[in-house]
Amino acid sequence: SKPKVYVTNYDIPKKGLDLLNKSCDVVQWQSRETITREQLIKNVKGIDALFCILTDKIDGTLLDACGPQLKAVGTMSVGYDHIDMKACKERGIPVGFTPDVLTDATAELTVALLLATSRRLMEGAGAVRSGEWGMWNPQWMCGQGLHHSTVGIFGLGRIGLAVAKRLRPFGISRLLYSGRKENPAAKEVDAEFVSFDTLLRESDFVIAGCALNSETKEIFNEDAFKKMKPTAIFVNSSRGGVVNQKALYDALKSGQIRAAGLDVTTPEPLPTDSPLLDLKNCVVLPHIGSATVEARNAMAELTARNILAALNGEQMPCQIE
Ligand code: GLV
Ligand code: GLV
Repeated sequence: SKPKVYVTNYDIPKKGLDLLNKSCDVVQWQSRETITREQLIKNVKGIDALFCILTDKIDGTLLDACGPQLKAVGTMSVGYDHIDMKACKERGIPVGFTPDVLTDATAELTVALLLATSRRLMEGAGAVRSGEWGMWNPQWMCGQGLHHSTVGIFGLGRIGLAVAKRLRPFGISRLLYSGRKENPAAKEVDAEFVSFDTLLRESDFVIAGCALNSETKEIFNEDAFKKMKPTAIFVNSSRGGVVNQKALYDALKSGQIRAAGLDVTTPEPLPTDSPLLDLKNCVVLPHIGSATVEARNAMAELTARNILAALNGEQMPCQIE
């Protein structure tokens, strides 16, 4: 009989599902609402592979609920902070993810956030609609451009590097990065490896490009925002969990930093009564970094290929080490 694959979301691009359907029995969550933990645990019983997304928590309890025949987990994301990798390793379950195919899309969105915050795009567009736009005024709606600025990227991985490449043509003066270790590819963009403290103190733009893990959890805390320039702009397109959101709110409200652009928050969706949404100097987007048709199609296909490889007893094209 065909291997059973459970897909936790109704809205997966067809290209990925078509690949799976050729050789597997695919069962898919059909509701427009996020699958609950209880339903997920119930629905995965007896499956051979799990096709999940970043809102599904994959831990030992869930793997055990699948049963001992489980052979693969594939997440349609590059981030895997929602997956307990230790629990997967202990059970010998390979886990696939989707690096590279979303790098360009996510880097573009990060640059969009830099421009939206530094040039006050949302505020400006709001002023047009509200009638606050009285006349052309020399000092009205001024921001701080990327040109001649110092940009600091915390976590110069695939996405961080792609952001750096896109920023060089803007004529930035200095490019700093910090993280666990130096990246030899930093040479390509002339980025200097500095301490986290130096990055915070010297950057006009601070970009979080890191993965969320025990080392980066809430690394952008009260202390970090205090070290930033009063004119600094903070941009996060990685995970909401790398930020202490209360500390960020306080820093934005008190003028300790100038602005923030967030594609990711805690929680997601961000409640509409979140105080962050009352701030003019904060742009919040609904976790759309990889949301281009091309990237999402490629992510679905790669997730399917990861799963199919493992079901065939082969190495996944993109397996988490
Ligand atoms: C998106 O956030 C991803 O991890 O792919
Ligand atoms: C991090 O998510 C990376 O792809 O570098």
